[in-house]
Amino acid sequence: VTIRAVSAADSGRIAALAHQLGYPSPVEAVRARLARILEDDNRIVYVAELADGHTVGWIDVAIHQLLIVEQRAEIEGLIIDEKHRGHGIGQRLIDQAETWAKEKGCKTIYVRSNIIRGDTHVFYKNLGYRNVKTQLAFQKPL
Ligand SMILES: CC(C)(COP(=O)(O)OP(=O)(O)OC[C@H]1O[C@@H](n2cnc3c(N)ncnc32)[C@H](O)[C@@H]1OP(=O)(O)O)[C@@H](O)C(=O)NCCC(=O)NCCS
Repeated sequence: VTIRAVSAADSGRIAALAHQLGYPSPVEAVRARLARILEDDNRIVYVAELADGHTVGWIDVAIHQLLIVEQRAEIEGLIIDEKHRGHGIGQRLIDQAETWAKEKGCKTIYVRSNIIRGDTHVFYKNLGYRNVKTQLAFQKPL
């Protein structure tokens, strides 16, 4: 498995895996979002690719500038293809994301994870992440 930075050509697999994550999106919409993300120096997407070129996971990380705390990295999305879980690929994507965040000067990396993802919370705890808050998420159409 190779970890590499995303390219526009990955849009189809990103969309397919986003669907598994519970965020179905048309490939064209993902392509347009990815184009904007690729222009942002404070944002990175890494993909995990098998030797045959098949993409089996991705991680999306952003640097957030806030008034209330020092800048920090935040994992905006992470998914490994359900057929390829439990082989250390998620951990490798996290390692790469953390390395990038440190190079960008971040001292903390943050992730919000839906309360229903109990297994995923064990995964993060195994990797040294500590639960610091429980929140409600609010949304309003504009
Ligand atoms: C969470 C997820 C990214 C983990 O990826 P993965 O490639 O399966 O995980 P890894 O194989 O790298 O596991 C790394 C460590 O976490 C542990 N781990 C992984 N999944 C686990 C689970 N379901 N329960 C308990 N421990 C788990 C592994 O055992 C491993 O620890 P070890 O080295 O001591 O054995 C993947 O399961 C996934 O895509 N889940 C659904 C989507 C999701 O929840 N995304 C995150 C949203 S915030």
